[in-house]
Amino acid sequence: MSSINRITVLGSGIMGHGIAQVSAMAGYNVTLRDIDQSFLAKAMEKIQWSLNKLVEKQKITTSQAADILGRILPVVDLREALRGADMMIEAVPEDMNLKRKVYNEINQCSETKTIYASNTSTLPITELGELTNRPEHFIGLHFFNPPQLMQLVEVIPGKLTNQDITDKAMDYVLRIGKQPILCRKDVAGFIVNRIFIPLVHEAAYCLDRDKASILQIDSAVKFKMAFPMGIFELADYTGLDVIHKATIEMYSRDNGVINPHPKIKQLFDEGNLGQKSGKGFYDYKGEKYERIDLTAQEAENYDPINLIAVAANSAAWLLSNGVCNEEDLEKAMKLGMGLKEKLFETIESFGINRIVNRLRELEKEYGFFYEPNSYVINYKRS
Ligand code: 3HC
Repeated sequence: MSSINRITVLGSGIMGHGIAQVSAMAGYNVTLRDIDQSFLAKAMEKIQWSLNKLVEKQKITTSQAADILGRILPVVDLREALRGADMMIEAVPEDMNLKRKVYNEINQCSETKTIYASNTSTLPITELGELTNRPEHFIGLHFFNPPQLMQLVEVIPGKLTNQDITDKAMDYVLRIGKQPILCRKDVAGFIVNRIFIPLVHEAAYCLDRDKASILQIDSAVKFKMAFPMGIFELADYTGLDVIHKATIEMYSRDNGVINPHPKIKQLFDEGNLGQKSGKGFYDYKGEKYERIDLTAQEAENYDPINLIAVAANSAAWLLSNGVCNEEDLEKAMKLGMGLKEKLFETIESFGINRIVNRLRELEKEYGFFYEPNSYVINYKRS
């Protein structure tokens, strides 16, 4: 029996409201905290929308939806929000200075029983833990967007995290009906973002270098690389602010992980953040969930070899550095990004030799980011 009953989620944005919802759906009492009542009102509206969808699809009943909503208490005052919390999940924007400020406030009013978890997608867990007065009670719990539908949660212990906290965090993930994957090293981007974020930048380079259109590239990603969405579509859906901030953090930790393309920063600076702002790589009608019409026919016009080569190299880096094994990597890509085929099956269908040769050509022309990792060079199907 888990000792976690009361959960406090800090930050009610895309991830925070979803984490609050899935926790309440599993029966937890949840406090959702943000700095302004208007943010909380918007978050509660989104939760209501999502619950209505689940009722529509007969996943839950109307009365269950009402009970779930009733288990979520929106609160502005931090001290009140943390009172009695068994676990606090921080989901505020990805900015170290902001996190420093938030943890400083948390230190002054949290209770000793509270487990600290951060939904950070890129910041070092050990460093975040050190901002608190109890780093041994601190852990990374990285959810995927939308948390209501994506089954994966990456669990990332920091250097000082107690095993007991890791066990409790794994147990919580299972209790909310998700699949935990242990990320064995606190590396930039953990598992999934180490593959996803560099791919967005590479796709932007493909626009320039291959003179391909956004629709052609996205269709090829969907129909030739077994992604559920195009890569630009997914970037817009995730938010260009999230992608840009993740890029800065990942690149500053390790400049070999990503080859930043200026287009991402440009869109961010222009306030074109994707679906949430009505414009990103694509234009959108409103803030509602909207999909791009991609076709297999359009995919015929583009060969995404550079994209699969970069994905293969990032995956190879994770495996050769012992961040996870191939089984967990495949599970993470399926449950966190909705891949319809195993990544290494797609890689093999393009041909390992072709991918390695392509990486060598790219390395020669564009630099060390593309240097093929030994794991991909020596890859043989077991
Ligand atoms: N709650 C409930 N229902 C929702 C929902 C939500 N939050 N969001 C969407 N839906 C509904 C849709 O409205 C749609 O309903 P409809 O059938 O009535 O129109 C239904 O779910 C299914 O949507 P689609 O028809 O568009 O079908 P898909 O089969 O493509 O599923 C998806 C949608 C699960 C989002 C799938 O496209 C997918 O897996 N996409 C990839 C998402 C991904 O990669 N996420 C991770 C990004 S990286 C990240 O988050 C890490 C961070 O640190 C950056």
